[in-house]
Amino acid sequence: MQVTYEAHPNYEQIATFHDDDFHCIVAIHSTRLGPAFGGCRLKPYLTHADAMVDVLRLAKAMTYKCSLADLNFGGGKMVVIADHPTRDILLKIGEVLNQFAGSFITGEDIGTTPDDIAVVNEVTPYVARIDGSAMTARGVLSAMLAAALYHKEWGDSLDGVAIWVQGLGKVGMPLTYMLSQHDHPNIYVSDLRANLVSQACSLPGVYSLTENDKKFISIYAPCAMGQVVHPGNVHTLRHSIICGAANNQLLDDSYAEVLYKNDVLYVPDWLANAGGVIVGACEADGPYDKTRAETMTDDIGQRLIRVLEMADKEGIPPLHAAKRLAEVRLL
Ligand code: NAI
Repeated sequence: MQVTYEAHPNYEQIATFHDDDFHCIVAIHSTRLGPAFGGCRLKPYLTHADAMVDVLRLAKAMTYKCSLADLNFGGGKMVVIADHPTRDILLKIGEVLNQFAGSFITGEDIGTTPDDIAVVNEVTPYVARIDGSAMTARGVLSAMLAAALYHKEWGDSLDGVAIWVQGLGKVGMPLTYMLSQHDHPNIYVSDLRANLVSQACSLPGVYSLTENDKKFISIYAPCAMGQVVHPGNVHTLRHSIICGAANNQLLDDSYAEVLYKNDVLYVPDWLANAGGVIVGACEADGPYDKTRAETMTDDIGQRLIRVLEMADKEGIPPLHAAKRLAEVRLL
């Protein structure tokens, strides 16, 4: 396997590993707080440049996510250009991880499953194996409740509030379930997979989203793909709150200012979706303690309140406030 390194002023290491059947980029943004942590994303990216843009942005977000969540881990990410995770690819991912000798730890992400990571684990110890998706959903709920409370429009209850959960995968489905157990919101769901929509709609207060419903949505929870806030909608989105699990929800961070000016409370994705990495960190710390991971995840709401208070005091978007708080530990 060949390795090509690229220098970047803001990243500790960027390496591309490739041979005839394998193409993978690892970006280590920072190990200032500890080993870099970040999932292994496997996608049929059209070009190496597309994969590079993704890995750089995701690795940096991991640094901020770990710092703000008070974890002693840094930020990194691995992307593999492929259609499917074959056994050969998974074993090569393991070989790549061994080259970092523990300074980079990965886990599942889009395109990889806990079973895939178990195969990677056959050749390397540098993986997190516990599926943190339900914990991610728990953290998103914690952030959503805190944002709703802060927003003051609905008091401390989500009763009757219209919420759209976009994507009913490993995070969106448990989030929908938790929401349906909490107060009595009207939950609208969407997914490309109709069977998941039917499954979710069997829960009380859950409905399949129609185009017309979008106008009435107060809380939008992107739990599918990133870049859902883009030039085509950033000026017209009027949800009270955007709070979901998807990484890189804003096509560009400058959109946080547009949303802020339009009174849309955008909860930084890497703040809301930290539950998964908290599970990974707790797993890496020693025998996994689920209660500890839950307690740390439930702090996400309080952390968001601190961010919102700072944002209010300084008249800046919550994303900017969250970055400043995260940067304190990175100095
Ligand atoms: P997943 O792959 O299990 O689920 C995504 C779901 O979104 C799938 O059911 C898919 O059919 C659906 N989908 C795709 N495009 C859609 C569209 N245009 N409209 C509606 N639905 C669509 O992924 P998972 O694990 O649930 O993650 C969701 C998002 O959260 C991803 O962006 C992921 O990067 C992010 N995330 C996940 C974490 C985790 O613990 N699983 C942790 C942190 C972030």
